[in-house]
Amino acid sequence: MIDTKVIGHRGAALLAPENTLASIRAAAEAGATWVEIDVSLINEGGLVIFHDNTLDRCTDGSGPIRKALPADVALLDAGSSFSTEFAGEKVPTLLEALECIQALGLGLNLEIKHDANDVENIVPAVMATLRDYWQDEDKLIISSFNYAALQLCYEIDSYRHLAPLYDDIPENWQEQAEAIQAYSVHCLYSRLTQPQAQQIKAAGYKLICFTANDPNVVEPLWLWGMDAIITDDPTKFASLLDS
Ligand code: G3P
Ligand code: MG
Repeated sequence: MIDTKVIGHRGAALLAPENTLASIRAAAEAGATWVEIDVSLINEGGLVIFHDNTLDRCTDGSGPIRKALPADVALLDAGSSFSTEFAGEKVPTLLEALECIQALGLGLNLEIKHDANDVENIVPAVMATLRDYWQDEDKLIISSFNYAALQLCYEIDSYRHLAPLYDDIPENWQEQAEAIQAYSVHCLYSRLTQPQAQQIKAAGYKLICFTANDPNVVEPLWLWGMDAIITDDPTKFASLLDS
């Protein structure tokens, strides 16, 4: 399973436009062997790799992504807002991203984005796509801030490696993790305490933190048992990439 200390965030969001195929390739070129990307549901049941609720920040489109038609999203420029060098870069479909990641031999932390009303729509579609197009279950962790989404993942395919995502770790984290037989717990590095880290590790879970781009700020967390860091710039953690 997770065999790296460094996971590229949204591909490598500081090196190329986030959540694009260019970003996934940039993470691999930087030496990362795992990437985290966000999957969102759009109109007509389409699944795309995208973080925000609206198209405005990352593309030349605008408005809610949930209402956008796949044919229209396919035409958007998701690269120019990062740099003219990436003009014409597309918003990938989930399938395009899975193919790219596997062709590069990377592991994947797939984050299911979390509109509470959409769990019944997005989760079965994501799980079906993974079943059909993702080969190595040991190179896949599915995470979400939406616990109901993870519960449904577990109902559909209990063998998948699941991970609750927390900004603040709740009192009942262990109950939640046990109920879905979680593989790892993913939390915001700046709010994690040493006792929480110790509890997570003592309970047998991998501990993965997000999102840090300065190795110094997370240095103590390795001693607390952190297994991997999610970063926008894997080159900053180059000394950890092979260890
Ligand atoms: O999966 C870790 C991290 O990506 C969670 O936050 O908002 O960057 O998707 P966000
Ligand atoms: Mg994410």
